[in-house]
Amino acid sequence: MKIMLTGASGFIGGHIRRALEAAGHEIVPVTRRDGFDFKQMLAVEDWLPHLQGVDAVINSVGIIAETRGQTFEALHFHAPAALFRACAQAGVKRVVQISALGADEQAFTPYQLTKKSADDVLRSLPLDWFVLRPSLVYGEGGASMAMFQRMANLPIIPLVGDGKQRIQPVHVSDVVATVLHCLRAVPAQRTLDVVGAYPLTFVEWLQLMRHKNGKTAALTLPIPLPLIMANAHLMRFIVPMLHPDNLRMLQRGNVADVQPLTEFLGRPPHPPAPSPLRGEGEQE
Ligand SMILES: NC(=O)c1ccc[n+]([C@@H]2O[C@H](COP(=O)([O-])OP(=O)(O)OC[C@H]3O[C@@H](n4cnc5c(N)ncnc54)[C@H](OP(=O)(O)O)[C@@H]3O)[C@@H](O)[C@H]2O)c1
Repeated sequence: MKIMLTGASGFIGGHIRRALEAAGHEIVPVTRRDGFDFKQMLAVEDWLPHLQGVDAVINSVGIIAETRGQTFEALHFHAPAALFRACAQAGVKRVVQISALGADEQAFTPYQLTKKSADDVLRSLPLDWFVLRPSLVYGEGGASMAMFQRMANLPIIPLVGDGKQRIQPVHVSDVVATVLHCLRAVPAQRTLDVVGAYPLTFVEWLQLMRHKNGKTAALTLPIPLPLIMANAHLMRFIVPMLHPDNLRMLQRGNVADVQPLTEFLGRPPHPPAPSPLRGEGEQE
């Protein structure tokens, strides 16, 4: 198949790209390095010339925080919505959208709401679509995992509040397997939560990472949420993940029923199992 892959240079997109190439697909990569800036591709006409002969589109562009003109509205909503509408016009048969867990009726942050808006546009179109909503994704090359690994290796682990937020990390190989399955699965027109085998708390996840690094469980230092929130507006400039909205999403929890994914893949996803940290600047 000839497949347009947006976000091909990213963590998830890079893994998808390598799997598609290994499976013999022809890739049309869409990254800023390839001359495609989502901020400037907000109309259907911007996409149509690039969809000639394309069988499927996979959208894996996203940001966790807004910076220097990179807005949720443009990157999560207007550009993908234009791309999806262009796909319908150009006769692209299949579109796979990497959305996020929480982009649903309870969405409450601009990150989630703009993702849901694009998902809704895709769901309204007469083509074979899949909306995938991953939980926290881990695996080689993941930036957020690198940060969590560093936290886990501290002598005393600082926690957001009590650290009991529920998460359901999914390995990037399960995300890739789901995307590949979407390219041929029938029926299409499905929204699927892409989660790990079972939920655990954030502090359990950090201690698990620590254990994988050959260390015993560490003491923890719960930092009261109001204190973190009071400083998050400044800290987010150093660590975008610490944007107050991201902390609110963490507080709400990031879990879902694994059964639909298990049925879709014909097997359960992997249980949460971070690999050991290999050295400075590396993770998993
Ligand atoms: N990682 C997770 O835990 C997780 C969980 C749930 C959902 N997701 C979603 O999965 C998708 C991929 O996430 P990721 O972790 O792979 O993110 P990532 O590593 O940060 O990759 C983001 C991708 O978006 C591209 N991009 C950013 N701004 C762009 C622009 N203006 N124009 C064109 N491309 C642009 C980047 O390409 P450049 O080379 O041009 O910068 C990069 O390829 C996102 O939609 C994210 O919300 C991720």
